Amino acid sequence: MENEIQSHRVSTSDDIEVSTYLEIAKELHGEQPAFEPKILSPSEKETIIVIDFGSQYSMLIARRIRECHVYCEIMPHDTPWEKIAPLNPRGFVLSGGPGSVYEPEAPLAPPYVYESHLPVMGICYGMQVICSQSGGQVSPGEKHEYGHAILHISNEDCPLFAKLTSPLHVWMSHGDQIIELPPTFKSLAYTENSPNAVIGNDKGIFGLQFHPEVAHTPQGKNILENFVYQICGCQGNWTPSKFMAENIEKIRKQVGKGKVICALSGGVDSAVTATLVHRAIGNRLTCFFINNGLLRREEPERVLNTFQQNFKMDIVYVDASKRFLKQLRKVVNPEVKRRLIGKEFIKVFEEGAAKLGKFDFLAQGTLYPDVIESTTSETKATAKIKSHHNVGGLPSKMKFTLIEPLRHLFKDEVRKIGAALGLPEDMTWRQPFPGPGLAIRIIGEVTEEKLEVLRAADWIVMHEIKTAKLYHQLWQSFAILTDVKSVGVMGDYRTYGYLIAVRAINSNDAMTADWSRLPYDLLARISSRIVNEVPKVNRVVYDITSKPPATIEWE
Ligand code: XMP
Repeated sequence: MENEIQSHRVSTSDDIEVSTYLEIAKELHGEQPAFEPKILSPSEKETIIVIDFGSQYSMLIARRIRECHVYCEIMPHDTPWEKIAPLNPRGFVLSGGPGSVYEPEAPLAPPYVYESHLPVMGICYGMQVICSQSGGQVSPGEKHEYGHAILHISNEDCPLFAKLTSPLHVWMSHGDQIIELPPTFKSLAYTENSPNAVIGNDKGIFGLQFHPEVAHTPQGKNILENFVYQICGCQGNWTPSKFMAENIEKIRKQVGKGKVICALSGGVDSAVTATLVHRAIGNRLTCFFINNGLLRREEPERVLNTFQQNFKMDIVYVDASKRFLKQLRKVVNPEVKRRLIGKEFIKVFEEGAAKLGKFDFLAQGTLYPDVIESTTSETKATAKIKSHHNVGGLPSKMKFTLIEPLRHLFKDEVRKIGAALGLPEDMTWRQPFPGPGLAIRIIGEVTEEKLEVLRAADWIVMHEIKTAKLYHQLWQSFAILTDVKSVGVMGDYRTYGYLIAVRAINSNDAMTADWSRLPYDLLARISSRIVNEVPKVNRVVYDITSKPPATIEWE
């Protein structure tokens, strides 16, 4: 089995001093990358803490605040103060949540939220928490208020409303209502159904009944901006690059003289992770790039070229395609496919790493949404839809210390860092591609022949989408090889060929997605090219299903 892995180093650099990196990048890109390695001093650090009560919008709140260049982290509502204090909090946002504060087990804000005397802003359930803990009263509203509402500001002088135009369009989603304000609190704004739509006291504690973080509240971002700047007094000195500069330093300290291993997938997360670690420790990082035989046309070559030419990294390329395809023989069940690919990946990784000696650390491109998903999972009822396999997944039996420099970042922030690090655009802006690759875009058994058909069709979709300049706008666009065959006519002959489906979707986070209304002419070109250029295909359909009820991938 083992000798089926043909692994070889494609590039071995001499020990690169971190300080020479900027020069290398300059040579390669003709100019210094935009990345400025300025490190914030402890007194400059400022964090807004979102206390999470299980709202589906907590992540959106954090995003909006970070868009104001203020660092923000989400913490479960039972987080102890010891975990919060090192972040130098400047204020708290209490998120919404599915509960009702008058229920016996309702989660409440920890005492330090009030005892720290920092500003607080409660949103929806968070506002009801403030009300209830400050001596007011909340009860089920006579009418539920969902969707659009008009908010009238009654106290124009409140700094939360600075530069806003009243009345505001806001988005509501609540069934409970404040029926008695806590002592010292005043109503600052109202809607038709909520006399206390915004409340506040002179200690910098505010409550909003509506959601300022969603796009349906157009001036919501200004409200959050007012909170962090006017009320919490933040400077707005956080940028992803600065955050990363700190992390390069952190990695350097953490790794010391140790050795790090990292699996590259070709996607932006692992690419940025590897590049950061490489900046920190040079060629004490070894990257693995495993070709599982399920990649797209020219993908292995492109990934290797990028890292070999641009970054002179030590990469071990493992062509394990035969092994993966052997595992997948006669397998049609999507979940079995996923599990087999995941297991095989770990085996190949372990075998390959073992040959190279001892590594102390494993670098992974885990992102913030994954971290949040796992830390707040107890507050969420999640049914398993698919077992996602991430190429950087931790091999369970291997004993590494994890390095996850992106674990506090969102995808768009990672892309910005990738650009700042000088990664090429086609890597920073690559659309997500699943770990199990084309195997979950081939319905039924995966064979070499089907992979070739799908690669050819996918190449055309990608090319046409890029030519139409839609690649960056779409979350994903790709081809699927269905297990349907249908009759066609070409020239004077009957054909009986494969059916290719084309999928193009818009999404912000892959949790939900809408099918993209691609121009008919573009669809026509894609269809015509596929049936004319890809042998064995005689029909093309366009997937017009959103997520939910469908998922993005077909398997
Ligand atoms: P679904 O099909 O669940 O996909 O709507 C949501 C997003 O996740 C990607 N995806 C995966 N990514 N390993 C990955 O790294 C996987 O096993 C996997 N399955 C789906 C999918 O492409 C979409 O962006």
